[in-house]
Amino acid sequence: MSIPFIDFKEQNRLIQGEVDLGFKKVFEKGDYILGEQAHLFEAAFSKYCEVQYGVGVNSGTDALHLALMALDIQEGDEVIVPTHTFIATALCVSFCRAKPVFVDIEPDTYNIDPKSFEAAITKKTKAVIPVHIYGQPANMDEIVVIARKHGIKIVEDAAQAHGSRYKGKRVGSLGDVACFSFYPTKSLGACGDAGMIVTNNKEIYEKALMLRDYGRQGRYEHKIKGTNSRLDTLQAVVLNAKLKHLDQWNEMRAKNAAYYAELLKPLKNVVTPITKSDRTHVFQTYAVLVPHRDKVVEAMKAQGVGVLIHYPIGLHLQEAYAELGYKRGDFPVSEKVALDIMSLPMFPHMTKEQIEVVAAALAKSL
Ligand SMILES: Cc1ncc(COP(=O)(O)O)c(C=O)c1O
Repeated sequence: MSIPFIDFKEQNRLIQGEVDLGFKKVFEKGDYILGEQAHLFEAAFSKYCEVQYGVGVNSGTDALHLALMALDIQEGDEVIVPTHTFIATALCVSFCRAKPVFVDIEPDTYNIDPKSFEAAITKKTKAVIPVHIYGQPANMDEIVVIARKHGIKIVEDAAQAHGSRYKGKRVGSLGDVACFSFYPTKSLGACGDAGMIVTNNKEIYEKALMLRDYGRQGRYEHKIKGTNSRLDTLQAVVLNAKLKHLDQWNEMRAKNAAYYAELLKPLKNVVTPITKSDRTHVFQTYAVLVPHRDKVVEAMKAQGVGVLIHYPIGLHLQEAYAELGYKRGDFPVSEKVALDIMSLPMFPHMTKEQIEVVAAALAKSL
């Protein structure tokens, strides 16, 4: 039996009727740009995140970029970013002509290490971007205390953690502003690119509204230099339909993760994910550490199991950031994780049998 990394057929079947009807209505109405469904989704998703405001944009990358612009990050500023994340977390800083300052991660959650964050603060530090990697919130209490002490803004990168909670509070409500991606493979995914900025801060909200729409307030009154980054109404139809299922799908992911953990327990050289007791993990990604990772990946693929690596190279070692002058050895925890990490297939409707096949394939690969 071959197992894909992700299979959303069952999710699609569940929302098909609602999406067909929703598309029909949009086509009839013709409100393709910032239409009714887009506004409904902004309201529904921000409520889901337990915050006041939501601004739908073109992608998670744009959400991060516009959030930093709303905070007035600019040339000469520094923004602290964990080195173990997708490159968009740092690119948004570069887009503002500011400097990403990379820091190491915690060895158990793979999230930003608050001590490394604090050590990297300079007079130029304006913001920090904790990423809730794989679906588990970062150590937010410590991050908030440090950030507040130094007057640093907190931009949550929640692209991988729709719906997870930290001490009972939803991600998206834990900093000054938060950014989500609805890229198709995310736990809440559109049928194309989409993203959202959420915040409780009215000023950030109002600026983000302008930034995503050419900086305008009236039709041809442009207050600031904005761009064109608006959530498509058609994508919002899909997202509205999926949002109703998100909590259930997250529970299904958590059950799958628990079954993986049970089956992989006897494999002493495999490190399965831990979930800290004060937070939930929504397992957008089920990442394990294995020895001889590259050979294991090949062997898994040869057995028909779709596996991926999130992420094989830390951002500090990426060619795109060569000008910053980092070198191997700068962030030992991230570098070790990048060497050993591998993501197993994970999607809500995975069957027990599929999980058993993956676990057996991993045992054999080792
Ligand atoms: C942690 C993280 N940040 C940002 C992004 C960027 O989101 P998008 O692909 O929607 O631009 C992604 C996903 O792709 C991500 O995983």
